Amino acid sequence: MKILGIETSCDETAVAVVEDGKVVLADFVYSQVEHSEFGGIVPEIASRQQLRKITPVFETCKKAYDISPSSIDAIAVTRGPGLIGSLMVGLNFAKALSFGWNLPLIGVNHLEGHIFANLLADNSLKPPFITLIVSGGHTLLVRVEDWCQYTILGSTRDDAAGEAFDKVAKLLGLGYPGGYMIDQLAKVGDREFHRFPRSHFKKGEYQFSFSGLKTSVAVYLRDKSDDFRSQYLNDICASFQERVIDMLVTPSLNAALDHGIDLVAVGGGVAANSRLREAFVERAAQKGIRVLFPAFKYCTDNAAMIASAGYFRLARGEQSDHSLVAVPYLPLA
Ligand code: KG4
Ligand code: ZN
Repeated sequence: MKILGIETSCDETAVAVVEDGKVVLADFVYSQVEHSEFGGIVPEIASRQQLRKITPVFETCKKAYDISPSSIDAIAVTRGPGLIGSLMVGLNFAKALSFGWNLPLIGVNHLEGHIFANLLADNSLKPPFITLIVSGGHTLLVRVEDWCQYTILGSTRDDAAGEAFDKVAKLLGLGYPGGYMIDQLAKVGDREFHRFPRSHFKKGEYQFSFSGLKTSVAVYLRDKSDDFRSQYLNDICASFQERVIDMLVTPSLNAALDHGIDLVAVGGGVAANSRLREAFVERAAQKGIRVLFPAFKYCTDNAAMIASAGYFRLARGEQSDHSLVAVPYLPLA
């Protein structure tokens, strides 16, 4: 079964074709660049750009794979969570195609897509496993009971992990989005340079909290000169990043051990962090746990993961009708 995937939940416009939920036949992502000067996503600009880009992105993807009513079997589209204006662009595009081409439509949860990005990396992946979703808007620890069946184990009490990266990057004057910049600068920084505080939770509580860490970076920087900041930029990035990583890895591995599960699959933009990948694998191996990451390009928002999730939803006999609406705060389970 060949599924056309469409993703427009935030500032990426993406179209892909995936076979049987596992094999990517074509995929194309356009990332908006207009937000960097504002230090964050401007929803009105995001939706306007989605509207401008959806048809060109679809046409570009069509050059790689001849998308037509006879060459694809169904259309999967992100219906939430995300920015309402952005979501509506992809959703209406998908509905129009489904109506005009008389093809089944399936609405997909964006967070579920981030889980399925791992299946694109390892076609043999099978539940049950623990998954950590770390993106700009979400930090969720989930037990995947079966495909499309989830138990939420924990989430963030305040900021998402990616949001913490972006806000600290802004404090350091690194521009938006900042996760990638911090990752690069931290590579040659001293992780022990400064010990930023970590949040503590009771045993068995798989919770996350990053706003205290962000504030402690702000307080730390308050009386530091520009010279100091630029001289120790790499070290500050590495020290901050190491704290975030510890706060992500520890609850994830505890959850796996407590649930007797030996596989953790990570997804979302922050899963692209090179040090997170290295530290996670290292610490998990000490406990006999395997960690899986999507390929870099499937960590951040893309439509291949949406097509993959859509395939499994359709395989369960689910289908959406044309009254499907976008839901900005759509929960995973
Ligand atoms: O999944 P995603 O593309 O969009 C959302 O669904 O939110 O994630 C974007 C987030 C941003 O906060 C960005 O700073 C972060 O992922 N990110 C990274 C890295 N690459 C992207 N964070 C840390 N290290 C990276 N290499
Ligand atoms: Zn995302």
